[in-house]
Amino acid sequence: MADENNAQRADAGEQGDDSKLFDALTPDVAPTVEEFMSKAATANEAEAEAVEQDAALQAGASMEASSFASPTVAPYIAFENVSKSFGDFVVLKDVSFFVNPGETLCILGRSGVGKSVSLQILMGFLKPDRGTVLVAGQDISGLSEREMQVVRSKVTMVFQNGALFDSITVGENVAFPLRERRDMEEDQILQIVRGLLEMVGVAGMENMLPSDLSTGMKRSVAIARALAAQPAAVLYDEPTTMVDPLMAHLLGDLIQRLKAQLHLTSIVVTHDMRFAEKLADRVVFLHEGTARFFGTTEEMRQTRDPVLHEFLALDELVLPGKAVSS
Ligand SMILES: Nc1ncnc2c1ncn2[C@@H]1O[C@H](COP(=O)(O)OP(=O)(O)OP(=O)(O)O)[C@@H](O)[C@H]1O
Ligand SMILES: [Mg+2]
Repeated sequence: MADENNAQRADAGEQGDDSKLFDALTPDVAPTVEEFMSKAATANEAEAEAVEQDAALQAGASMEASSFASPTVAPYIAFENVSKSFGDFVVLKDVSFFVNPGETLCILGRSGVGKSVSLQILMGFLKPDRGTVLVAGQDISGLSEREMQVVRSKVTMVFQNGALFDSITVGENVAFPLRERRDMEEDQILQIVRGLLEMVGVAGMENMLPSDLSTGMKRSVAIARALAAQPAAVLYDEPTTMVDPLMAHLLGDLIQRLKAQLHLTSIVVTHDMRFAEKLADRVVFLHEGTARFFGTTEEMRQTRDPVLHEFLALDELVLPGKAVSS
C-alpha cells in the first residue's frame, strides 16, 4: 500500500501544473465525476468571465485603476474595515481586502497576526466587532445560522488538520456533503467519492480512518470533501506547511489546478512566498493588526515598504530551497 501511494504521488508530481484534473480518474468513474465537477466549473467560469469583461471596461474608462481603489466589480468575498479584539487584545484593526470571483487572494503575515481569525470570520465562526464582511457576494452580518449554512455550502474551508470527522471512514467523510443533498443515488455517490479521492492523489483510501492518514493526506481528503459540496470558493489555512516537500508540491499544484480548471475563487493563508507568487492574483499582508499591504503580486514586487521587504527577506531565509517552485 505504501509503495503504491508513493508511486501515485510520484506520478502526480510528474504531471506538473498543466495536467488536467480529470486525467487521474479511472475510466469507470470518469464520466460521472467529470459531469459532477463540470456543473460547478461552468457556473464559476461564467462569473469569472463577467468579472474580466467588467474589469476590461472599467480599465478602459480609468487608466489609473489600482487595486487599492474600490473594486471595479462586485467582489465575491470582502472585508470592509473589519476590526476584531479578544478582550483588550486587538487582533484586527480596520482591515479591508477583497477577492473577485475566480481570483485567488493570499493572506500573508507573521504568526499570531490574525490570518486564521480572518478565515474564521469569513466562515461565520467568529463575529467581527466592527466592519462589513461579504461572503458569496452578500453581507453575512445579519444572517441566521441556517442562512449561514447555505453560504458555507458555496464557500468551504480546508483546515490545517483537515478537520475530518474522526469516527467515520475517509469515504464517508467525502460522501457527507453528497448525502446531505438527498438527491443522489448510492452508486453515484460512491463513484464521485472514488473519483474525488483519485483527483486529489489519495486513490483507494475510502475505507481508512482519518487517524490512519498523514497530515498531508488528511488535507487532500479535506479538499476532496470540500469539492463534494461543489463550492464556488475554497479557503485554505496553510495548506502546504508541516508536510514533506513532495506533498507540499502536490498540494500546491492541486490548488493551482482547482483554481485554473474549476475557476474556484480561493483564499490561501500561506508563509510560502514562492507559492503565493505563483498562485495569487492579489496579496494582503497583515501586520500589527492592520492590512499593511493589499494589492496585486506585481504591485507587491514593486513596493518599497521596509516591513514587507523584511518579511519577504525573512521568508527566503527561513525556507531556503522551498519545494513549491518551478
Ligand atoms: N477564540 C479566541 N479567543 C481568544 N484569542 C484568540 C482566539 N482565536 C485567536 N486568538 C488570538 O488571536 C491572535 C491571532 O490568531 P490567529 O490564529 O489568527 O493567528 P495566525 O495569523 O493564524 O497565526 P499562525 O501563523 O501561527 O497560524 C492570536 O494571538 C490568538 O491567540
Ligand atoms: Mg493560523
